[in-house]
Amino acid sequence: MERIKAGIIGMGFIGVSHVEAIRRIGFAQLVAVADANPALAQAKASEYDIPKCYATVEELLADPEISVVHNCTPNNQHLEINEKIIRSGKHVFSEKPLGMTSVETRKMLDLLAANPRIVGGVNFNYRMNPLVQDMKNRVRKGDIGTVNLVHGSYLQDWLLYDTDYNWRVEPEVSGLSRCVADIGSHWMDIVQTVTGLKIVEVCSDLFIAHPVRKKPRGQVETFSINTNADFEPKKVSTEDYGAVLIKFDSGAHGVFHVSQISAGRKCHFNFEIDGTTSSFYWNQETADHMWQGSRDGYNSQIMRNPNLMTPESRPYSYLAAGHPEGWNDAMKNNVYAMYKFIADGRDMRKDKPDFAVFEDGHYITRLVEAILESNAERRWVTIS
Ligand SMILES: NC(=O)c1ccc[n+]([C@@H]2O[C@H](COP(=O)([O-])OP(=O)(O)OC[C@H]3O[C@@H](n4cnc5c(N)ncnc54)[C@H](O)[C@@H]3O)[C@@H](O)[C@H]2O)c1
Repeated sequence: MERIKAGIIGMGFIGVSHVEAIRRIGFAQLVAVADANPALAQAKASEYDIPKCYATVEELLADPEISVVHNCTPNNQHLEINEKIIRSGKHVFSEKPLGMTSVETRKMLDLLAANPRIVGGVNFNYRMNPLVQDMKNRVRKGDIGTVNLVHGSYLQDWLLYDTDYNWRVEPEVSGLSRCVADIGSHWMDIVQTVTGLKIVEVCSDLFIAHPVRKKPRGQVETFSINTNADFEPKKVSTEDYGAVLIKFDSGAHGVFHVSQISAGRKCHFNFEIDGTTSSFYWNQETADHMWQGSRDGYNSQIMRNPNLMTPESRPYSYLAAGHPEGWNDAMKNNVYAMYKFIADGRDMRKDKPDFAVFEDGHYITRLVEAILESNAERRWVTIS
């Protein structure tokens, strides 16, 4: 089989994870990278022995060898770069959130619809954890009855202090929502994936703990500790915390909260689905385990074991039980699913892939906007 050749634009925090994910796919080959910071691109190309390093997006897109391009740039670059990728005739794997607004994501959807040969994926990677896929298939088979409630949270602490800073704090780079768009988007994607239901109503309460942050004069890498002592004050208009009541199209109810200021919480991403007969709970920090709750019998702590997983979810698990799989493996599964879809010559118009597509990214952006509207107007908002 001829290998699918890939390029990555944006070699910051997440770009490196894309390198590792592509490298784990036997029928894929990473041939080039590009970054607005040429020194960074060069350093990463040399560290990872990537054959080509381009100075601009245009040069990378002009490379006829490349057929899939990963867009790992900050949110305000997604529209322009994704459009360029699609227009160049290459498949696009975009980081989330797909765009800054639903106007942007609508434009990308329309452009993809006009180019149906092109496969468009969005990196909602958490849904590709083996046990999340297993839970999805168990919920679909009726293992917990009908879904009544869905609840959970995604908590971090890397923006706890007013000296913590990153481009995500700036709405012109990140968008009008921070915490909800950045990590709440993953939460909404995973619960919609597992339940097969759509969130159609939201009622939110957002909170800005630091209305002014101290912006360092110099770049700060995502999740790094800022040791720069030279600051300028910067007004903050995006939320550090959000709580959202939700209703699903089936009539199920739920609630989630997200925070980037919860001391000690690093990537505390968890959710519980309560059905009419049983419940499931999963936390990505202990990704190889899930919990099944029972009212009349003992509760079960389930450890991932490919031999016991539903047949549909087995391909997402590579290692034998007791050999932990986690974040990097889910990331690899997501990239693999997109590349396999391409390799098999499947058609986005006919087949619904397991990885998130632009339609999913567009819907999540609409949910984020509804959450902002709900908070501003202090009322429930319905997504039409
Ligand atoms: N799926 C996930 O779990 C996950 C995790 C982290 C980040 N992300 C997403 O990935 C994206 C990048 O986040 P990050 O934390 O890696 O940011 P980052 O700041 O660490 O890296 C972004 C890189 O893009 C480069 N860049 C900026 N504009 C560019 C342009 N026009 N052309 C080429 N390169 C450009 C920057 O120089 C930088 O190296 C964001 O959209 C973020 O939401 C997703």
